[in-house]
Amino acid sequence: MKNRKILGSGYAVGKEIVSNEDFEKILDTSDEWISSRTGIKTRRVSPDENSSDLGYRAALMAIEEANISKEDIDLIIVATITPDNITPSCASLIQDKLGLNEQTIMAFDMSAACTGFVYALQTASYMLSDYKCALVIGVDVNSKLMDYTDRNTSILFGDGAGAVIMKQENCNNVMYHYANSTGDHEGFLQGSGLVLPKPLQNGSREVGFLKQNGSEVFRFAVKALEEAVIEVLKKAGKDLDEIDYIIPHQANIRIIRNVAKRMKLSDDKFYTNLDKYGNTSGGSIPIALAEAMKENIIKPGMKIIMVGFGGGFTYAASYIEL
Ligand code: ACO
Repeated sequence: MKNRKILGSGYAVGKEIVSNEDFEKILDTSDEWISSRTGIKTRRVSPDENSSDLGYRAALMAIEEANISKEDIDLIIVATITPDNITPSCASLIQDKLGLNEQTIMAFDMSAACTGFVYALQTASYMLSDYKCALVIGVDVNSKLMDYTDRNTSILFGDGAGAVIMKQENCNNVMYHYANSTGDHEGFLQGSGLVLPKPLQNGSREVGFLKQNGSEVFRFAVKALEEAVIEVLKKAGKDLDEIDYIIPHQANIRIIRNVAKRMKLSDDKFYTNLDKYGNTSGGSIPIALAEAMKENIIKPGMKIIMVGFGGGFTYAASYIEL
């Protein structure tokens, strides 16, 4: 994809900090176990803001950084597995919060779990042949899906949103994409949705918690991240040493270190902030991008790869020139 440019990024995280020590009080676990097995020290939980609220805050920051008028936006894609509602979509709710009701805008949500943001970014970059300015958001309030008696899963996740503004511009910047999905036939990572009712019967139909087989997800993740990076590099015709930073899905530091080792890369090539925020699913990669840009670690002119994996099993990588 030629002439695609990310003009600004933003992020917002849940306001409440939950530490590993907080989990020691409710689960048979320890800071030592969680830190050494995952790299996570704290995560943010959002008791009073839903996905559209966090997405809206991230969007405002991205719009300001991009230095555009919000009325320029004609496409909103939100990647989430924890929307406020089945309908309206988070994208429509964020359009409303931005006061863009009178604009001609295509707004919709996408579901690809932790790969969601990369899928959404790729979709937007293709759609920018017909649209001018995309607001792409990844957001999840994972606490809505957590079973806080499940020490395998609940310690991993946090709540947050990241956003970018992407435009078609006359520039030399290019993007290349790779995406894949396996179908997760064995059901290693599942969060059930609406349950089929018995005909004409009312009554409570609970939405299930997120459940996973951690070690199977771990094994898949390492292979998927490596494959996606290799494949997107082939498409871009680049070597690994031409890449300034890789922004991986922030799930577990051991997954990222494993990938670095397999690819003979220094750990420093990977930007990580999962120690602070844990796994924010759809929010993870755009939060990392936005934070790294605010900290001036990732800068305009750099070549980066964003790479994610998640439920489905989906995985994807994008090569981007900032
Ligand atoms: N505290 C203490 N002990 C624990 C905890 C905990 N929080 N969680 C699990 N354990 C125990 C297990 O019960 C097990 O005990 P046992 O040997 O007595 O049975 C032992 O620790 C080892 O368990 P493993 O599952 O082998 O531990 P592992 O090193 O694989 O770490 C983890 C588990 C952290 C879940 C890891 O497998 C992982 O991160 N997997 C990837 C998960 C992931 O990223 N999921 C999100 C995908 S993205 C998306 O789309 C949502």
